[in-house]
Amino acid sequence: DIDALEKEFQERIDAEKKIEPKDWMPEAYRRTLIRQISQHAHSEVVGQLPEGNWITRAPSLRRKAILLAKVQDEAGHGLYLYSAAETLGSSREQMIDDLHAGKAKYSSIFNYPTLSWADVPAIGWLVDGAAIVNQVALCRTSYGPYSRAMIRVCKEESFHARQGFEGMLALARGNEAQKKMCQDAINRYWWPALMMFGPSDAESPNSAQSMKWKIKRFSNDELRQKFVDQTVPQIEYLGMEVPDPDCKWNEERGHYDIGEMPWEEFFAVIKGHGPCNHERLQARQKAHDEGNWVREAALAYQKKQADKKQS
Ligand code: ACO
Repeated sequence: DIDALEKEFQERIDAEKKIEPKDWMPEAYRRTLIRQISQHAHSEVVGQLPEGNWITRAPSLRRKAILLAKVQDEAGHGLYLYSAAETLGSSREQMIDDLHAGKAKYSSIFNYPTLSWADVPAIGWLVDGAAIVNQVALCRTSYGPYSRAMIRVCKEESFHARQGFEGMLALARGNEAQKKMCQDAINRYWWPALMMFGPSDAESPNSAQSMKWKIKRFSNDELRQKFVDQTVPQIEYLGMEVPDPDCKWNEERGHYDIGEMPWEEFFAVIKGHGPCNHERLQARQKAHDEGNWVREAALAYQKKQADKKQS
């Protein structure tokens, strides 16, 4: 009966055993994973847009080659993640339709514009840096295909974060205008990067169950704190300022305190009212429509091969 199956399932999770695609799982576990993994996949794919915006304007051949490679890596991450979600019985068409219809979310961070070149290294360092903190934890998530996908994704994200910091360092050691660009990018991306970790634990409806199923290994606030603690010293190393007057080391807690998070902005962005939500979805829809002939050609080819085999 279902209670016994659920009990056995939880025992496997508690014993740190991975759940694999053909194993029995509660429907809600399957649905939660499809939701999270597909949103993660959409984030990787939509995430190509803000940085892709600078490929034609990169300041040198070296920077351009790095940026091209990075943006392609993000497409690859999207593909591993869609494949991982497909092992749970969801089709890629359905997931993509849900994104285009505004039913499935993607990370809030990709709804902000990239206004200057400094935004490119700032994203590599802060956004991919925040993604790593979240994804290193997900390498130990309970669902096998998701955890294995995360291992390779994290290796590539580490390269992204390092190239980002190196790009910021070049600006921070540059002339006055470059220093100003560097600080301006930090000012605009700091809070949005902290919002990537999601609502506070008290406001996070999915956390308790996802922690019990070990889909999530740390809470949203724990991961956000980890990111703040590792990033503030890096901002100081750059000789830049943290754009939060309340950000201070708390000796007693052994962590940095931060000011009030801009939650109103966070909820507006995830409801579709961020600065670039409309533009991002339109760009995805357009790319999908323009790729239709490729999907049609692949199906026609498949049919031709099948017909050949039959005759
Ligand atoms: N942007 C957009 N939506 C968000 C964000 C965010 N930064 N944070 C939370 N949400 C959404 C959740 O998806 C959820 O909505 P839903 O129920 O409609 O799916 C809602 O806000 C409430 O949040 P939580 O209950 O905290 O949701 P959850 O337990 O799924 O935690 C989190 C959110 C931490 C983002 C989790 O889903 C996760 O770890 N996902 C995998 C990592 C990921 O998606 N990274 C993408 C950015 S990194 C990159 O692509 C480079």
